[in-house]
Amino acid sequence: MVVHKQKRQSLLFRRATNPHFHLSRRVLRTLILLTISLLWIFSAGHLEPAFSNPGQTTNIFRPLSQPAQDISHLSLLVIAICTAIFLVVAGLLVYSIIRYRHRAGDEASEPPQIYGSNQIELAWTVLPILIVFVLILVTSRSIAQIQDRKPPAGTVNATVIGHQWWWEIRYPELGIVTANELHVPASTDSRVRPTFLKLQSMDVAHSFWVPQLAGKTDLIPNRENLMWIEPTQPGVYLGNCAEYCGTQHARMLIRVIVHAPGEFDRWVAEQKEPAIEDAGAQQGRKIFFANSCVNCHTIRGTSAQGMFGPDLTHLMSRETLGSGAAPNTSEMLRAWVRDPQKLKVGCLMPNMQMTDTEVDQVVAYLQTLK
Ligand code: CUA
Repeated sequence: MVVHKQKRQSLLFRRATNPHFHLSRRVLRTLILLTISLLWIFSAGHLEPAFSNPGQTTNIFRPLSQPAQDISHLSLLVIAICTAIFLVVAGLLVYSIIRYRHRAGDEASEPPQIYGSNQIELAWTVLPILIVFVLILVTSRSIAQIQDRKPPAGTVNATVIGHQWWWEIRYPELGIVTANELHVPASTDSRVRPTFLKLQSMDVAHSFWVPQLAGKTDLIPNRENLMWIEPTQPGVYLGNCAEYCGTQHARMLIRVIVHAPGEFDRWVAEQKEPAIEDAGAQQGRKIFFANSCVNCHTIRGTSAQGMFGPDLTHLMSRETLGSGAAPNTSEMLRAWVRDPQKLKVGCLMPNMQMTDTEVDQVVAYLQTLK
């Protein structure tokens, strides 16, 4: 009995003091976790469309425009090279762990002691240098191709200005100002019509990112960054601000609406019109102009020329309110005018403390701004 207990104790002692035993377990656990994470990352690209509307996915592995397609191909190449390296390293590690694991009787002799190997050291210095060199070359080639793109005839030019927490969108050549929804034409084989964007910021750093169209580009105060997109499939593309910019960073969503050829010009013609004057909403109009709404919002063709908030000339042509915080429905518009702080805490539009009747009248007026 005593002997048996002693034997067990010595086994436990050996386990506790043998560094190989613990190391291999820990390494195995890490390897399993790494493999699961990698599988998850790879499957995410393929599983996601099954769970969401394919037109409204924000998956970088389903690019539908240049330069997102080039960036995606490059990422796949980089991921493939890194996966190969991972498999070789992890394979060697697993092989070593199993092949050279601790065995009974190992205490009796010491394994052969090896000091240095020129071949091995050369191999693990030269090979990584070559791999990194290839990665640098392919990446700089893609960056140069994207940045050197010259705008062809028919290019649409837009300026996107980041605000806390919404996007101002200007088309200087077309005389259009809108917010949070960037409208662009689709390119076809016969007519390439990219949109070139100038990115600026009014306050802090933001980042423009619509994963299916292009990579991320920051909007930085006192600086102008450039990017371009060239979508070929009409539809709505979702994106968001990708640089933390304050409380409502998460509700600084952007939509890119890609129009079929011809439809874009119709949208432009509609947006160029001044605001509609509807005689039926005069009461609400009066309240809007009597309050400080006009200090922040512009309604083209009226005396409201504020610049701090979104242009409301064609508010009802937009799909969302508060930069994607809520859909643009009567109910939500009413909730927004009543108290924007409820829908988007911390946004710069205050509760105007209007009565219920006044809110109804202002909403009725806003709804005429088609
Ligand atoms: Cu703007 Cu984050």
